Amino acid sequence: MISNKIAALLNEQINKELFSAYLYWDMSHYFETRGLDGFAQWYMVQAEEEYDHAQRIYRYLVDNDICVTLTAIETPSRKYECVMDVLQSAYEHEEYITESIHNLYCAAHQEKDLRTMEFLNWFINEQAEEETHARSMIDKMKLFGNDGKGLYQLNREFGKRNSE
Ligand code: FEO
Repeated sequence: MISNKIAALLNEQINKELFSAYLYWDMSHYFETRGLDGFAQWYMVQAEEEYDHAQRIYRYLVDNDICVTLTAIETPSRKYECVMDVLQSAYEHEEYITESIHNLYCAAHQEKDLRTMEFLNWFINEQAEEETHARSMIDKMKLFGNDGKGLYQLNREFGKRNSE
């Protein structure tokens, strides 16, 4: 059985995933308006993935006969100074989401909710991947993004990301 506490935390996580989608959509817009269409593409695909994460949790709750409450999504309020600022913010956001998922897992463990622990395993692995990608973008930006030619190449590379 899924307790009210775990159900509420999962419900909150839906909102966090939807906010993530909003945040990455906003970041995509930042790049879209600065001629960096490849970066914009990368973040738009990421926004789609976050929507998928929200859907997974929604489906899990509904399949377990739990009523979902969709709450208001916060406005992304960041004002970015430069490309690196966006990449760094994305990485920090993923660290925050990882912590949230880990807290959820610990709460499920405390309640001996094996089903939710099993469900969350996918998210734990996904977060490790997302942090790796976000860090790798920062590393590449540091190495190659300081001149126009390097930035152009990075933009081309990131633009190859397609919806999965
Ligand atoms: Fe769904 Fe990027 O966390």
